[in-house]
Amino acid sequence: MANPKVSGLAGYSKLDLKRLPAHVAIIMDGNGRWAKGRGLPRVMGHRAGIQSVRAVVEAARELSIRVLTLYAFSVENWKRNPQEVKTLMRLLNEYLRRELPTLMANEIRLNVLGDVSGLPPGVQEELERVLAKTRANDKMVLNLALNYGARAEILQAAGRVAAEVKAGRLKESELTEAAFSRFLYTDGQPDPDLLIRTSGEHRISNFLLWQISYAELYLTPRLWPDFGKADFLAALLEYQGRERRFGA
Ligand code: IPE
Ligand code: IPE
Ligand code: MG
Repeated sequence: MANPKVSGLAGYSKLDLKRLPAHVAIIMDGNGRWAKGRGLPRVMGHRAGIQSVRAVVEAARELSIRVLTLYAFSVENWKRNPQEVKTLMRLLNEYLRRELPTLMANEIRLNVLGDVSGLPPGVQEELERVLAKTRANDKMVLNLALNYGARAEILQAAGRVAAEVKAGRLKESELTEAAFSRFLYTDGQPDPDLLIRTSGEHRISNFLLWQISYAELYLTPRLWPDFGKADFLAALLEYQGRERRFGA
């Protein structure tokens, strides 16, 4: 994707480029079932899912979407078989190493949502490297939710708010929703306008509970490794057909 061009994408013509979501978040689900359906080990589904990550990052960048958030590993995912967790961490490391040139060429800044300190040291190192190198990129933010849990995120925010109040740096009367948002991992970012979940599951699984209060939901039976640009486009078209009322 060295040369992003909106015109190169058949089908995008139906989209109103002035009414695109500023922030799209995706619960990438169904890798295991994709592999099972092919008689393959689960980890092959995760490997195949990386192609879908590339496709949506490319499509989002081509459309000038400002923030793309991908749920890659939840705090609950540590409950999985240690071998699967190990492979997921290895794939993550590999992805970061391989994608750095693409992120640089397309001026995409990587950002992490989650508790980085709980990740294996090798992954932390690779993350630090890519975060530092892409820091000045300003065309799109790619949030990777890693070791992420929305309740944990809100809890750490509440703890920091309490500490700020105690230290006299924040008045309780100044604690608005906007002020609280600054303590979340998504500090400074617009809330997701659109939340996509693949694989036919109709649940949130502890993802961005604060931030999605008015996100439009797009639930598709497509398994993540089968999700491509055309599916991303379909989600955006559906989003543009929705009437957002925000309670009014
Ligand atoms: C999503 O696919 C990837 C991660 C949660 C890391 P799953 O691994 O959850 O696949 P299914 O839901 O078991 O099919
Ligand atoms: C949500 O998927 C987490 C990620 C996509 C990383 P899961 O597969 O872990 O969620 P549940 O267990 O079906 O709710
Ligand atoms: Mg799953």
